[in-house]
This record gives sequence, C-alpha cells and structure tokens, in this order.
Amino acid sequence: MHSISSPAFGGPPIGKTTTQHHHHHHHIFPHATVSGLQMTTTHHHHAITHSLPSDKIEVIKSLEPWVEQSILPFLKPTDESWQPSDFLPNSSQPFDQFATEVRTLRDQSAMLPDDYLVVLIGNMITEEALPTYETVLNNYDGIRDETGASASPWAKWTRGWAAEENRHGDLLHTYLYLSGRVNMRMIERTIQNLIASGTVSVCSQDPETENNPYLGFVYTSFQERATFVSHGNTARLAKEKGDPLLARICGIIASDEKRHEKAYIKIVEKLLEVDTTTTMLAIADMMQKRITMPAYLMNDGYDLSLFSHYSAVAQRLGVYTAADYADVLEFLVRRWRLEKLEGLTSDGQRAQEYVCGLAPRIRKLQERSHERAQKMEQDGVKFSWIFNKKVML
Ligand SMILES: [Fe+2]
Ligand SMILES: [Fe+2]
Repeated sequence: MHSISSPAFGGPPIGKTTTQHHHHHHHIFPHATVSGLQMTTTHHHHAITHSLPSDKIEVIKSLEPWVEQSILPFLKPTDESWQPSDFLPNSSQPFDQFATEVRTLRDQSAMLPDDYLVVLIGNMITEEALPTYETVLNNYDGIRDETGASASPWAKWTRGWAAEENRHGDLLHTYLYLSGRVNMRMIERTIQNLIASGTVSVCSQDPETENNPYLGFVYTSFQERATFVSHGNTARLAKEKGDPLLARICGIIASDEKRHEKAYIKIVEKLLEVDTTTTMLAIADMMQKRITMPAYLMNDGYDLSLFSHYSAVAQRLGVYTAADYADVLEFLVRRWRLEKLEGLTSDGQRAQEYVCGLAPRIRKLQERSHERAQKMEQDGVKFSWIFNKKVML
C-alpha cells in the first residue's frame, strides 16, 4: 500500500474541516480553504466510530454472494503467485554462487542515488505496516472477520488480499537488506513505531473512516491506485538508473496493486449501483477530508517531520506527486462515471458537483506546498535510513 498525498506535497488543501462535531458527516462540501501544512498531530478526540446505520450494514451483508462471485476471483491462487524468493539470490546454493548473485545485486544497487533510496525505503516501510491495514479493514462494519478464519466472503477477501500484500514488504525489505546501502536498524525502528502507531486515512480533524465500509472502500480504491502509480514509477526509475532487477521487483508489486485496485473499484461501483446517494456522499466526504498515505504516522525517533520529508522527495523525483493525486481522482471519477450518476438526492447532487469539479482545483494548488517545504529546508534533510546522509527535498 501506499498512497496519497501528503500535506508536504500539497495534499490538496481542500475543504478544511472545521471543528464542528459531525455526527452527520456529509453536509458541507465546498469549503475551499487553504489549510497549509498541518504535519504533526492528528486529533483523536471526537473520533466517530461505527457511523454506519444498521440498514446499511444489511446492504453490505446482502452483497456477500456477489463478493464471492465477482470479487474473490481477483485474488490469485498461491500456485499461480510469484514469491519474493523468485526475485532474490538463492541462499541455499553453494556459498560462492550465492555470493556471486549478491554481488551482482549490489553492483546494480550501487547505481541508485540517495534520494531514490529514501523513496524506496519509505515505500517499503509503508508496505511493512500491513498488520495495521488488515486491522482497519477488519473493523469496517458488515465485513469484519469475526473469528480470524470466518467463511464470510468479505473476510476471505481481506485475508487473501493481506496474504498477497505480505509479499510486497518481504521482497523490498530483503532487496534493501542485501543491497548494503541502507541502515536496516533505523528502518526497522521506523517499522516498529509505525505498526505501533497505526494509521489515519484522511488528514482532517476526524481522521477516521469511522468503521464505515462506504468510506473505507473509497479509501482503498484510491490507495491501491496510488500505490500502483508509486511502485510503477520506482520501477521506471530503477531501470533508468541501471538496476533491472529492482525494476522487475517494483514492477511485479505494481501489478498486484493494479489487480487490487480493480477489485476495490468494482466494490465501490457496486455500492454506487445499490445505494447511489450514500456512496456518492462517502466519496465526497473522503475527498473533502483529504486522503493521506497510510504511513502518515511514520517516525524514526529522530526526524519529527519524517513522513513529510519522505513525501517531498517522492514529489521531487516524480514517484508520487500532487499531480498524481489529481490524476487518481480524475481516473476514479471517470471510472465510476460520477458525472452521469442519476437518482441522487439534492445532498447527493452537491456531493457529485463537488467531486467532479475537484481535480482542476487540486491541480491549481498543487506545487505550492512543495515549494514551501523546499524553502523551509533549503540545505536538504538528513535521513537516518541512509546513515544520515543529506537529501534535497
Ligand atoms: Fe496495496
Ligand atoms: Fe502493497
């Protein structure tokens, strides 16, 4: 996983949420306010949990046969799946052969610049916090895995999805370990902190997805698409820098993200079909709160703005940018045919107008906060992950 706009690179500062209690979370859309950098704390007071009314939970439950038939086939059986070891030196060979393969890997990874490494490490750490994401999915009302081995198709999907995702962190982790370029201990500390901290899916006063699967699946659709873009870009850059193995590694991960994206997009498409207004309102709500990366709370114990620094480097290298955020949004608007939705309530229509008009506004604002971050740290920033070498933002 990975995604989305960080405040540092202009997570489009749209729709600043005010401090109102929103028990009804869908009323205000077009508060276009530039909220600027809000980097550190998230506010857990007034957390809204379980916002989904029981009739909506029934809607989710009623989709179980459809999930079995239409969503589970997006998972690949283990027999047809790649494994991290397919891409890594085989350590069970005689030592000399293993060492030769490792040397080849290291000769190529030696070509990767420090700024690229920072972004790759950030992506890897994001993948490694998978336990958090599985927990979040399992807390969406109507889809949770009640036992840990539930036969509910929703639960089967979540477990199968996590089982596939689990390979992403493993593969990137082992590659980086073998490269010898990075401070594994600092990276491992960051992973431990991140899993212990959890995640927030939106940058707002109320950063939860409220255990609400309508909001949750909008998030995962956005998320998987954004990760696909990001891993795809690290693959392209690896090739350009002269590391074809790493290009294949990032590419195979990107192709998983793409498949997962398709499944989540299809779920939201189904929700739009069976419950149009609620789903449209959920999309607007998520966009208004501003979707953020799942690794937003990352912390190495040294750099208090680690996530925004990593995001700023990703922005500068073109791995994941504010323009990509707008592109993902535009893609989803098109894919869900939001402009053509019919039968919406008047609230639903306002939500529709807001979401369909949002991408151009994001594009206008896009570079501003990145420039601000660069200005604040003109000399670059030290990253513990690469032995405190300095990298420009
Ligand atoms: Fe993913
Ligand atoms: Fe992933």
